[in-house]
Amino acid sequence: ARVLNNKEEALIDRLEVVTVPSPSPRGLPVKQFAAQAQLPVHEWPDVGAGEYDVGVVASFGRLLSEALILKFPYGVLNVHPSCLPRWRGPAPIIHTVLHGDAVTGVTIMQIRPKRFDVGPIVKQETIPVSPRSTAKELEVVLSRLGANMLISVLKNLPESLNRARQQPAEGVTYAPKISAGTSCIKWEEQTSEQIFRLYRAIGNIIPLQTLWMENTVKLLDLVEVNNSVLADLKLTGQTVTPGSVIYHKQLQILLVCCKDGWIGVRSVMLKKTLTATDFYNGYLHPWRQNNSQAPPSQCRFQTLRLPAKKKLAKTVVAMQQCIK
Ligand SMILES: *[C@@H]1O[C@H](CO)[C@@H](O)[C@H](O)[C@H]1NC(C)=O
Ligand SMILES: *[C@@H]1O[C@H](CO)[C@@H](O)[C@H](O)[C@H]1NC(C)=O
Repeated sequence: ARVLNNKEEALIDRLEVVTVPSPSPRGLPVKQFAAQAQLPVHEWPDVGAGEYDVGVVASFGRLLSEALILKFPYGVLNVHPSCLPRWRGPAPIIHTVLHGDAVTGVTIMQIRPKRFDVGPIVKQETIPVSPRSTAKELEVVLSRLGANMLISVLKNLPESLNRARQQPAEGVTYAPKISAGTSCIKWEEQTSEQIFRLYRAIGNIIPLQTLWMENTVKLLDLVEVNNSVLADLKLTGQTVTPGSVIYHKQLQILLVCCKDGWIGVRSVMLKKTLTATDFYNGYLHPWRQNNSQAPPSQCRFQTLRLPAKKKLAKTVVAMQQCIK
């Protein structure tokens, strides 16, 4: 971007956009926005030949060379959705939710070559994370916050950069990409609280999954259950094998026992999407009738173990879309 100093005029004189190459899901929304706003677009590693004052990246996922950074008199700013140095790396919002952080925020920092998310902090603002917010909801809030913070930095660019401070050495954590294996619920190891966090962190990108009698089941719609629901089925205080599935007829949900506590499930997917009632009628009840001698603990979901390979694409933080 080329920034104007005259505050009476528009803040930005000229804006050009660089996207990561197209089949990447991250580049696409940026490219579409740029086309709509009639901005020139370059596809990385092409960055155009123009002269600019400052560069800005958000969730770009590529290291910038020193030579490129030096082309910008005011350097390159990164808008990162966490309070650095907490959650450096490609999936900060997911890890914020997964770890149940009560506070998060946005950091605007100066890009340094060779390593991600280590440069000096130009501006940082925090916000509380509401206890039930999903990563997707948080992303929307943080995108807006980041866009507004960026504008205020650009309005006072030299002063903002002069006030930049190194990141503290304490409190560094990493937010790697999430692997598909993370979506497999570990019934013996995870509490209901941990499973709900996982659901809010990644459920919209990759559904939680488990095994029902050797078939993969995706748990699509989770609901919290309270003690009075458990009391209905005389489950309070009982020792039940984790993964055990019980159908709650009045509420039309499946109750699944975790390491500690229970989760409710409203719909699942086997070959197709099924309500809890469909699953009960099509799978749970017939299995029980066929296996009337089997102990109740056999009627359960079992942890699905995937070969640890597939990586998930990073979530799209379409922060650029909010910058107008
Ligand atoms: C418990 O959950 C049920 C079903 O969602 C609801 O009807 C009931 O009001 C809840 N009870 C309490 C004490 O929250
Ligand atoms: C019940 O048993 C029958 C006969 O062995 C079998 O065809 C059917 O698939 C079984 N159903 C379930 C749900 O186990």
